[in-house]
Amino acid sequence: MRNKITIIGAGNVGATAAHWAASRRLGDVLLLDVVEGVPQGKALDLLQSGPVDGFSGRVSGSNDFADSANSDVIIITAGLARKPGMSRDDLMAKNVAIVKSCTEQAAKHSPDAVLIVVTNPIDAMVYTAYKVSGFPKNRVVGMAGVLDSARYRTFLADALGVAPRDVNAMVMGIHGDNMMPLVRLANVSGIPVTDLLSEEQLKAIVHRTQHGGGEIVAHLKTGSAFYTPGLAAVEMAEAILTDSKRVLPCAAYVDGEFGFSGCFLGVPVILGSGGIERIIEFELTAEELTALKESETAVHKQMEETGL
Ligand code: 2OP
Repeated sequence: MRNKITIIGAGNVGATAAHWAASRRLGDVLLLDVVEGVPQGKALDLLQSGPVDGFSGRVSGSNDFADSANSDVIIITAGLARKPGMSRDDLMAKNVAIVKSCTEQAAKHSPDAVLIVVTNPIDAMVYTAYKVSGFPKNRVVGMAGVLDSARYRTFLADALGVAPRDVNAMVMGIHGDNMMPLVRLANVSGIPVTDLLSEEQLKAIVHRTQHGGGEIVAHLKTGSAFYTPGLAAVEMAEAILTDSKRVLPCAAYVDGEFGFSGCFLGVPVILGSGGIERIIEFELTAEELTALKESETAVHKQMEETGL
């Protein structure tokens, strides 16, 4: 039997995730949205790319959560996106209400699914989904680290003139201006970037990564990024559905790891059929720990704002 992936929210991020999921042959894809016609139309268009792309999974659209029953993975993208001048936190109240109601419905129809939360502000929305679903912490995960790390790797690759896939680099912490692109461990095929780029160059790349989402919002003016956010969520879904034990930075519920507890924080995790199978802890320098603490403080503030 094919896997079933439900994507809630048929906007730019949701539709793009559906596209990547179908094209990567992850299984049957359901696009769900409250707006009548939009998920149906986008899904039908995507389905018709099957003969050309080569996938055989079903792609369908619906306004009814009952159609999402027995999904293996549910990607929540529903919510308002940022406009220029808005921070991710400005979306809080409206998106808490949206994520709450989507999670309630999704969890009811697919009690064994893994939830991947993409809606902003991600660290608060993944907490919302965790509280509302009642799912164990390993089955609720936030997408942010894969996206932020992809931006970081892109900028490093650009500066070095090397293939982006040969750049290994990770962003930990919150999905916001306090995010923590790790410089010490970033490398190109094992060669530390600190041997290849100046401190000044690295500083500029870290700053650009931290503001990478805003840079795109400023260009688009009517919304935020969607190609890489959609793909990042699908990369995580693929790791879960294929039980591949990928090590990816994700927003995971910490329970003592790195000295933090009781919140979702961007940390490296092993993703497999059980969702988050383990958070990989490693030694951070005092400076890195201070930066991660800043993220944790910001996440706790966001959690309070959810009112949950
Ligand atoms: C970003 O582009 C969508 O927050 C997201 O960073």
